[in-house]
Amino acid sequence: MAKIESIGVFTSGGDAPGMNASLRAVVRTAIHFGVKVFGIYRGYAGMIDNEIKELNRRSVSGIIQQGGTIIKTSRSPEFETPEGRQKTYENLKKLGVKGIIGIGGDGTFRGLRDMAEETDFLVIGIPGTIDNDIYGTDFTIGYDTAVNTAIDAIDKIRDTAQSHDRLFLVEVMGRNAGFIGLETGIGGGAEEICIPEFKTNLDSLAEHLERRHVQSKASLIMVIAEGDDAGDATTIARKLKEKVGISYRVTILGHIQRGGSPTAKDRLLASKLGYHAVKALMVGKSGIMIGEVHNKISETPLEETWAKKKPIDYGLMEMAQILAE
Ligand code: F6P
Repeated sequence: MAKIESIGVFTSGGDAPGMNASLRAVVRTAIHFGVKVFGIYRGYAGMIDNEIKELNRRSVSGIIQQGGTIIKTSRSPEFETPEGRQKTYENLKKLGVKGIIGIGGDGTFRGLRDMAEETDFLVIGIPGTIDNDIYGTDFTIGYDTAVNTAIDAIDKIRDTAQSHDRLFLVEVMGRNAGFIGLETGIGGGAEEICIPEFKTNLDSLAEHLERRHVQSKASLIMVIAEGDDAGDATTIARKLKEKVGISYRVTILGHIQRGGSPTAKDRLLASKLGYHAVKALMVGKSGIMIGEVHNKISETPLEETWAKKKPIDYGLMEMAQILAE
């Protein structure tokens, strides 16, 4: 197999803390092995608009601790059209790029799959999303930081909740997945956790809240995943208000969860996945996501990463309910 001389790297979809650490690993690993690296700015949008620049070791200095992504990100509807994709192929071919590494979630991986089907570029995905909802890796880059950020916020909310003997409904991100909600709820000692993987029963929630109120728990915190089947935190609060007369406040943590300096765990994961993605490209692998399962580097066909559903740990939910009594 001919040696790959140039690769491109981009971040796409929602940014996640640790994307920079992964970019740094990709750039430095590639250069170490004598491979040129082009940074593609603003994801697929920048690929179409030719916002591509060669990166060197120093281009990624001082970024391992930074949240966000220095090469920016976007969601590009134009890349979903054959004309849009054609433009990207021409731009990349002109530079002699043979391999592409995309850091992001399922939208990013679907785009890489299209590229692999329509061209002879070698493509590798690295899972980067705070949601942790990607099959084929125990954790995605950014998830650990997001959970720690949310727990830190809940600790602060607990102070005011306890002072007022109040109920707080705290909404966390996660689109259609409850990974952030579950771990944040457990780590923050929440009395109730509502996530999309479990049907939310408002009557039993109301009954729990009343019982806990009678047990005179000083404060009550409910963690609600934004994609819960009973609605978002504001909707659930309104519905509960009709059933129980406890005063409450709603806090939506929102994009705070996406920012901030990555945790040690995220920096390490990001570095490992970036390093192994380049090594995979160099031996001609393509159409896979590099992840980590049980502390070992794993390779999963891109299609499986969104077609298979990553299971949530149901035992943790039962534990959370017992610990909240
Ligand atoms: O996928 C990451 C995520 O932060 C989800 O948790 C959230 O639902 C969504 O992105 C928000 O997206 P946007 O960047 O469009 O606000």
